[in-house]
Amino acid sequence: MSHYYKSGSIPHKRHTQFRKPDGNLYSEQLFSTEGFSSVYSLLYHNHPPTEIIRTDKPYSVMPQIAEEKMLQHRSFQGFNIKPESDYLKSRKPVLVNNDCQIVLAAPQQSMTKHFYKNADADELLFIHEGNGKLKTQYGELEFNYGDYVMVPRGTIYQVEFATHTNRLFIVESFSPIRYPKKYISKEGQLLEHSPYCERDIRPPENLQTSDEKGDFLILTKKKGMIYGIHYLHHPFDVVGWDGCCYPYIFSILDFEPITGRVHQPPPVHQTFEAHNFVVCSFVPRLFDYHPLAIPAPYNHSNIDSDELIYYVDGDFMSRKNVTRGMITLHPGGIPHGPHPGAVNKSIGAKETKELAVMVDTFHPLQLTKEALNIEDKNYVMSWSE
Ligand SMILES: [Fe+2]
Repeated sequence: MSHYYKSGSIPHKRHTQFRKPDGNLYSEQLFSTEGFSSVYSLLYHNHPPTEIIRTDKPYSVMPQIAEEKMLQHRSFQGFNIKPESDYLKSRKPVLVNNDCQIVLAAPQQSMTKHFYKNADADELLFIHEGNGKLKTQYGELEFNYGDYVMVPRGTIYQVEFATHTNRLFIVESFSPIRYPKKYISKEGQLLEHSPYCERDIRPPENLQTSDEKGDFLILTKKKGMIYGIHYLHHPFDVVGWDGCCYPYIFSILDFEPITGRVHQPPPVHQTFEAHNFVVCSFVPRLFDYHPLAIPAPYNHSNIDSDELIYYVDGDFMSRKNVTRGMITLHPGGIPHGPHPGAVNKSIGAKETKELAVMVDTFHPLQLTKEALNIEDKNYVMSWSE
């Protein structure tokens, strides 16, 4: 969970009369993603968030599954996903299951004419290329290279890019994305052995409050459909809010790696968790310092999880022919390990500059048509070359 934060004007006591200068009441809204059973925020609007004036015909953005079942190591060239001007159209689901969807996007233009809300999934937007600003009811989040932008499901947002070339690696999660439980104290603070702490979390800033009346379209995603819902007032009409449920940014560059005398297992890289998957960050770090250490990973049999790695930057000591934006998928059921020559090459190396995001899913991922379009078909044989 995120820690408590407040911004703007809020009443002294929740659920009490909070009046505008003209004597009318502000409209209170409780925002949560798990009913009334977990963290929440209270927002105070100039106008009720319920004033629908019309609705559009919905359209489908369901991922088109090409391979439902498979047992083979796969690799995809993520940067071969074609750029598209529209932010929503640019988002291409490549690997999906019932817990999460892995989406690649190369949007060229900002989304300023309408708003977007994912009513199904938390969105973790990893910024590989580009920078800009996420505008929300809670304020603005300025994002740069290496940022994880965490957007709780239901958050209304717009995205403004300062750049034309943008590359995003997106994880849509059908359950809340949290800090790993092992790093949270029983009182909710990030513990001393966590690779990051509250200071590394960037909450929304610069709360802008609109009082504009008109026709405001919120494209709302629900069960693979986009519903166009038009509202009477600008959705960013919040004068203040407080609570523990809000979008935030954590930079992968603020992840402090945990290293050891011998090779450390993937859980030391864990950054977030959700129901049935985890997100890990591989960052530049010193290698293992036992005199006989082998920095390259050992072969391992991930029998109960699919391992997906999204390569961001730097050199990868365990793999050949790695390119920026590449994805490897090592499915649960068959072992995988370093490419031939990588183990010997790693001995004596002092550090790695690798930067990557790993998603381990506890149920198999399915491949979409978009994934097959960008696949490197020779990857499965790359250990025998
Ligand atoms: Fe692995």
